[in-house]
Amino acid sequence: MGHKSHSWKDKDKPPVIRPHSVEKHRLLQTYLFRYVLTLTRIKAMERLPLTLIDGFAGGNVYRQGADRKFRSGSPSLMLDTIRDAEETVNAERTKKLQIIDDYFFIEQEAHACDSLRRTLADSPRARAVRDRIRVFQGDFSSHAARIIQFVKDKSPSGRAIFNLDQCGYDAVPFEQIRAIFSALPKAEVILTFAADFLIDYLREGRPNRRLKCMPDLDVDALASTVDRSDPRWRRLIQLELHQEVLKASGATFYTPFFIRSTDSHRDLWILHLSGHHRARDVMTGVHWERHNSVAHYGGAGLKMLGYDPEQDVVVTGQKPLPGFFFDDKAQAMTEGALLDELPRRIYEFSDAVEFQRLFALITNETPATSQMLRKSIRILAREGLLRVRDASGLTERRAGIQAESDIVTIPAQKLLFYTI
Ligand SMILES: C[S@@+](CC[C@H](N)C(=O)[O-])C[C@H]1O[C@@H](n2cnc3c(N)ncnc32)[C@H](O)[C@@H]1O
Repeated sequence: MGHKSHSWKDKDKPPVIRPHSVEKHRLLQTYLFRYVLTLTRIKAMERLPLTLIDGFAGGNVYRQGADRKFRSGSPSLMLDTIRDAEETVNAERTKKLQIIDDYFFIEQEAHACDSLRRTLADSPRARAVRDRIRVFQGDFSSHAARIIQFVKDKSPSGRAIFNLDQCGYDAVPFEQIRAIFSALPKAEVILTFAADFLIDYLREGRPNRRLKCMPDLDVDALASTVDRSDPRWRRLIQLELHQEVLKASGATFYTPFFIRSTDSHRDLWILHLSGHHRARDVMTGVHWERHNSVAHYGGAGLKMLGYDPEQDVVVTGQKPLPGFFFDDKAQAMTEGALLDELPRRIYEFSDAVEFQRLFALITNETPATSQMLRKSIRILAREGLLRVRDASGLTERRAGIQAESDIVTIPAQKLLFYTI
């Protein structure tokens, strides 16, 4: 797509960055920083092999603000954040950590790729690790298999983060994402997905349409799951689309967030896809930290992706609910919803459930972090609505969850209540 905000033709006048891109950058930086801090909590860890891939890298420089000051694009931001995180971790350690970081930057457009190479050559930090940076001009998809192989060969843990910041929705084949997760279970993908543009396309009545990114998806069938005259059409189709995207990605954990593009007035989904619930917990934590600009899609409780007519403006005729902004109010709503919904949910497990399994099973459905889940369980246990014991079942945990292997149950005298 040749949008002027992505044209690096004139090297003295790189594109002016748009507000939603600034927010995407902040999100990416905060996530990478937390990722490193989370993985390196064990002080004995001396090496962290990690590969970072920016599959739609851009020209790596923008202008910003009234004075049009230059600022970095995502490739340099990723690299600088990893270096900053390593310095932060090492400031508190006697045994130093070394991040063995490799970078793959792929950019299709020639001017953008020239700008990318030039800006990396000008950066002292990038020059210091230049043997570990590979820049390719071309289509991300045609390089993906080679990168996956590189990560596999590099370390058995196969840790890699793919930033796939496509314009639009159709440039990243989901088959590629499935290939990443099937070869690299510890990989994570941060995918920009212009869902509202896809929804506009779905709304058109043309028959026999196919998407490049999901060739197996029956577009017409998806569009017709909801009657076009239904005023809730857009919202209902979004919910259907979430399910299709999660299925097509092959990821186990899925975090859909959206950023509103102020110039197109369309929502961009920033999808975090991973194979481990801890990765999702870290990303959810980032959204709580950055509460003022990224809004969660859906409500506060479990089943946040489920459609709730009670909250539908068209059905209720009430004023639209304000967005979910990861603020104090959202936190109170989330915790309240957990207190209401958790006992019944736990009741669905035949007798008992391990804390980490419970978190893994519900995390796709809720904006709550594991910390919030712990807090709710502590309150419910204090009120006698839940019971927590250690893995052996012999020790009662009066202060709530103390280990991920702790077991949560419904007390026998409360069971009757949930069978009604
Ligand atoms: C949204 S911009 C990237 C911005 C960059 N990630 C940042 O935040 O600084 C998307 C870039 O992807 C490039 N591009 C488009 N299709 C591509 C493809 N199939 N493979 C690789 N790059 C592509 C475009 O030329 C454009 O520079």
